[in-house]
Amino acid sequence: MLVHISDVHVTSNYFSKKLSENVVGEVNRLRPDLLVVTGDITDNGYPYEYKEAKDFLDQFKAERLVVVPGNHDSRNAGYVLFEELFGTRYPSVEVGHVKVVGVDSTEPDLDDGHVGRLAYRIVENELKEFSGVRVVALHHHLVPVPGTGRERNIPSDSGDFLKVLSEIGVHLVLCGHKHVPWTWRLNKMFIINAGTATTLRLKAHTPPSFNILTISKALLVAERVNSETLERQPICTVHLET
Ligand SMILES: [Fe+2]
Ligand SMILES: [Fe+2]
Repeated sequence: MLVHISDVHVTSNYFSKKLSENVVGEVNRLRPDLLVVTGDITDNGYPYEYKEAKDFLDQFKAERLVVVPGNHDSRNAGYVLFEELFGTRYPSVEVGHVKVVGVDSTEPDLDDGHVGRLAYRIVENELKEFSGVRVVALHHHLVPVPGTGRERNIPSDSGDFLKVLSEIGVHLVLCGHKHVPWTWRLNKMFIINAGTATTLRLKAHTPPSFNILTISKALLVAERVNSETLERQPICTVHLET
């Protein structure tokens, strides 16, 4: 089982202790094989924020962890601290028949996203020969998310990156950033955007949430969990071709 959380913004004034306790409690009850965190763990990338964010993530009892930076984490040279704490901005973790490759889509001090051609090669090298379920995680949304106002911050090379992902046969893309959960199917790929797991920086009636993905060799079942009530809602059930 894989749990996907995003946009926890641990040190922001819209971070909710109550929501965070809910999320940590539920995830630890589930004990997933893998926890994927798609960025914005801090609010401004400052050292004290990284310390708090690390302490927060250390509470989760997951076998493995994949974290990528968000635009907020790359502020104020926070990307330096990110690498010190998490080792790389391009993690690759294989758990059973699932491989997750993380990509840094941020640019220092900008909210806009950019993936970059070197990252295409990293993803290709990691996933092209992998015969299991291929997953890519990044902060920025690759396709517009409805209910989020004026479109902005999509990676400037989103079209090119989507083509690369599609050609590799990536099954699943996990994103965050907009604080609104949404799922698109594009060619054979599912693009799952997580909402904010632990903050009150919410749009209209969108609740804070995170995602649970149960992946067998042939089937992916994705569910969204309301961080407030812990109620689950189905996202999609997909028959996988591996
Ligand atoms: Fe965010
Ligand atoms: Fe963001």
